[in-house]
Amino acid sequence: MTTTNIYLPFKTSIANVKEVAKDVKLFSISVPADFTYQAGQFVMVSVIGAGEVPISITSTPGVSKDLELCVRTVGHVSSAINALAANDSIWLRGPYGRPFPINGQDALFICGGIGIVPLRPLINQMLHNRAATGSRKKVTVMYGSRNPAEVLFMDEAARWQEQGAHIVMTVDTCDIESWKGCTGLVTDHFAKANIDYRNSTAYICGPHVMIKATMRDLSMMGMPDDHIITTLEAHMKCGVGKCGHCYCGGKLICEEGPVFSLEEIKKYNIKPGVDDLV
Ligand SMILES: Cc1cc2nc3c(=O)[nH]c(=O)nc-3n(C[C@H](O)[C@H](O)[C@H](O)COP(=O)(O)OP(=O)(O)OC[C@H]3O[C@@H](n4cnc5c(N)ncnc54)[C@H](O)[C@@H]3O)c2cc1C
Ligand code: FES
Repeated sequence: MTTTNIYLPFKTSIANVKEVAKDVKLFSISVPADFTYQAGQFVMVSVIGAGEVPISITSTPGVSKDLELCVRTVGHVSSAINALAANDSIWLRGPYGRPFPINGQDALFICGGIGIVPLRPLINQMLHNRAATGSRKKVTVMYGSRNPAEVLFMDEAARWQEQGAHIVMTVDTCDIESWKGCTGLVTDHFAKANIDYRNSTAYICGPHVMIKATMRDLSMMGMPDDHIITTLEAHMKCGVGKCGHCYCGGKLICEEGPVFSLEEIKKYNIKPGVDDLV
């Protein structure tokens, strides 16, 4: 989607909105047919009078009709977005950022909490392509949440399993008897995933502490650094490489990321947030 002014968002409307967990809403947003994007990219979302924030695209490229965004209420702008209802107006710029690289290897998705949101389109895209081409590529999804009430896209995970994905779900603490998944951290359950680490690519998204522990463990188990891929969050203003707000380790996270390999994170010493990643 091109506009004459790169900072000028286009106005569109919310087709549907539903609460998918406490303080987390999934929006379906009408976009023009020429609005194309790739898994891993984000849009700048604005609510007039509140402000503008980066939000990952969670719909499947080339498959979903509407653009889907999943937003957790954390502060001023995310609260304003999550107060919107169906038919309300919303303003978008983008899509922006470097998408996830895709190769022919087995794929291991490791998601923590709302970190499943940017990975969801790639999981859906890979399973869609797998069915369309008859590929035998293995798709494994390991998804950790704090508790069963915070698990997002539970129905969809059941569908991924029917489509041939291997699913490992875990929660830190479990307070309901009906929970059929594991307990503990995602990194506690690698043995259940039966991964060929040397010949797989991992896609990781979650809290920094989880990304850091997961990258360390995968590296120790023999996965090459250039096949350990994550997507990083940074404070952003312009989203298009102009303001320097997201500058980290000589890289502009908005333009040269948000997707980086462990090899790049080490090479450029990228340290988003307060925590070192390596
Ligand atoms: C590329 C990218 C993709 C994102 N995708 C999603 C998504 O799909 N869904 C979603 O809910 N959120 C996503 N976020 C995070 C989202 O942009 C922030 O939650 C949002 O900017 C918070 O704005 P606010 O005005 O509501 O909060 P504020 O009032 O500005 O801040 C509330 C708290 O959150 C912290 N914070 C705010 N923004 C960020 C940030 N970008 N990184 C780290 N800490 C931050 C602040 O320091 C403060 O402690 C993404 C961020 C990036 C950079
Ligand atoms: S947010 Fe402005 S340069 Fe990245």
